[in-house]
Amino acid sequence: MEGIEKVYEFLNEASTYYLATVDGDQPRVRPFGTILLSGGKLYIQTGKIKNVSKQLAANPKAEICAFKGGKWLRVAGELVNDDNHDVKVAMLDKMPSLKGMYSADDDNMQMLYFKNAKATFSSFTEAPETVEF
Ligand SMILES: Cc1cc2nc3c(=O)[nH]c(=O)nc-3n(C[C@H](O)[C@H](O)[C@H](O)COP(=O)(O)O)c2cc1C
Repeated sequence: MEGIEKVYEFLNEASTYYLATVDGDQPRVRPFGTILLSGGKLYIQTGKIKNVSKQLAANPKAEICAFKGGKWLRVAGELVNDDNHDVKVAMLDKMPSLKGMYSADDDNMQMLYFKNAKATFSSFTEAPETVEF
């Protein structure tokens, strides 16, 4: 399995991760659950009207953290907007509950993918494992 696939699988199985952004000199963090691997890119989804989206537009640096089965994963990098229609449709098809709030044709739905990402799997018992994508 490719490194990015391992990262995707871990986040999928963890189901919730925490996304940190930068707001001036103030870190901001919140729970997220959307995750998609498409075209070799790791995507998350949000709404353009949210503060998280505005923070990423001003400063794309972000980090996510998830915990599952005694291991934790951190992915640090930049989150890049992608308005590709097919990617939005793929996200809505993977997580149909999003269809109650978003559509691929609204002005709000936002897909962002990780660029210059460094993912680190850690545990209390094993050496850290790093993946870059
Ligand atoms: C378990 C869980 C998963 C969530 N997943 C997402 C998500 O994938 N995308 C999203 O935009 N909001 C998601 N939310 C809602 C955000 O956490 C919430 O809108 C948050 O306030 C956004 O951050 P902001 O207020 O800084 O903009 C989720 C909430 C919970 C409780």
